[in-house]
Amino acid sequence: MDLLTPQAIAQHLGATTRPWKLQVVEETDSTNTRLKQAAKAGAGQDIVLVADHQTAGRGRLGRSFLSPAGSGIYMSLLLRPALPMARCTDLTVAAAVCVARALGKLCGLQADIKWVNDLYVGGKKLCGILTEGTLGQKDMADFVVVGIGLNVGRLDCGGDAELAAIVTSLEEELGRTVDRSELIAAILWEFDHYYADMEQNHPAMLEEYRRRMFLTGKEVTLSTDPAKRPHLVLGVDENAGLLVRTPDGGTLTLQSGEVSIRTV
Ligand code: BTN
Repeated sequence: MDLLTPQAIAQHLGATTRPWKLQVVEETDSTNTRLKQAAKAGAGQDIVLVADHQTAGRGRLGRSFLSPAGSGIYMSLLLRPALPMARCTDLTVAAAVCVARALGKLCGLQADIKWVNDLYVGGKKLCGILTEGTLGQKDMADFVVVGIGLNVGRLDCGGDAELAAIVTSLEEELGRTVDRSELIAAILWEFDHYYADMEQNHPAMLEEYRRRMFLTGKEVTLSTDPAKRPHLVLGVDENAGLLVRTPDGGTLTLQSGEVSIRTV
């Protein structure tokens, strides 16, 4: 088993532009929930909380995120960016690209992005990102928590064949395990460099997000459309909204929700 400690992460990380405070716990309910609570209680910024195991890992749209011990990366970043709340999606875009870049550099793996913030390899989900924020003064964010959940070891789907068909892990893709501390450091290194100057770095991030976003040009159905009519994905706008052509020939920009690739 790999060594998941702040020291091991720091050793791989080396020098950063920000003074990240690394915390590793064996078990918690959800690293996002913990950091949100800490932020509300007045904690400072640049905290990275990593758990070996989450008892109540959360995903988008109220879903749970399977977080077994010893086999995944469950990490959250507490940020206090000087950003209007509306721009906080930039952090989600960046987090997805940073994870993809780290996977490319460390594991030689090509990860694609499924809007909004899932990472896929070979058509299966490897990583999910949950960004949560709170409004502060005027329209500015008070804090943002970016949570990253990545399957490292082979997943035990508990006999759930449907789940097994749609999720994957690094071990399944690479045929070997990956040192979690090293990968956490690689992700954080990418994010640190982006976050040092978001304004300057964001256009390149958005470009890379668009390149990796594999839904463009595909027909999808929308979770909000009970009729499951086909919508053509046209691309991603500068606010990370998904541009789609509707069945009646109009265009629509989705800011949230979920889309599925049409199979019939
Ligand atoms: C999704 O797949 O919809 C997003 C999953 C996000 C999971 C991560 S694991 C670390 C952090 N803590 C949580 O409870 N959720 C995020």
